[in-house]
Amino acid sequence: MEIGTGCGTSGIWLLRGMRPTAVLTTVDVEPEHQRLARAAFLAAGFQGGRYRLIGGLALEVLPRLADGAYDMVFCDADRQEFPGYLIAALRLLRPGGIVVFNATLPGAAAADRPPGEAEMAALTDLRDQVRSDERLVPLLLPVGNGLLTAVKQA
Ligand SMILES: C[S@@+](CC[C@H](N)C(=O)[O-])C[C@H]1O[C@@H](n2cnc3c(N)ncnc32)[C@H](O)[C@@H]1O
Repeated sequence: MEIGTGCGTSGIWLLRGMRPTAVLTTVDVEPEHQRLARAAFLAAGFQGGRYRLIGGLALEVLPRLADGAYDMVFCDADRQEFPGYLIAALRLLRPGGIVVFNATLPGAAAADRPPGEAEMAALTDLRDQVRSDERLVPLLLPVGNGLLTAVKQA
C-alpha cells in the first residue's frame, strides 16, 4: 500500500513490481491527486482492478484497513505524521512485510522544500522508534533523499 498517492509516479513503480493478481491500495487527501494518479495508472496499462484509491487523511483512513493484510507500506505523505504511519504499518503488515519511508535523510527536501523543525523532530522520533522496536530489522538506503526501510520480523 502507498500512503501519499500523489500523481501516481511511485504507484506505477510499485504496480510494476507486484504480482499481476496483487492490488495496490493508496491513500491521499487531495481528490485531484487521486484523479491524476488514476489517469497515470491507466495510461501505464494498469486496469482499475489493480488498485484501490482511498480519499482522506491518512491517520483517519489507516485504522479502517485490515490487520496483517499488506506486504509493503510505502509512506510518502506528511513527514510530521511518519511516526504515526509506523504505528499503523506495524498493524497493517503481515509478518515478513516491509515498511518504507521516503525522504528521511536529515535535511532532505520533500516537495521541493527543506524540512521544518516539526518535520525534523518527527524524523528523529521515527528513527528512534525504528531503532528501538525489536520486531523490526531496519535499513537506511542512500537512494534519493534517503529511504528508511524496516522489515517486520515473522
Ligand atoms: C510527495 S507527494 C507523494 C508523491 C507520490 N508518492 C508520487 O510518486 O507521485 C505527497 C502526497 O501526500 C498527500 N498528503 C499529504 N498529507 C497527507 C495526509 N495527512 N493524509 C493523506 N495524504 C496526504 C498529498 O496530497 C500528496 O499527494
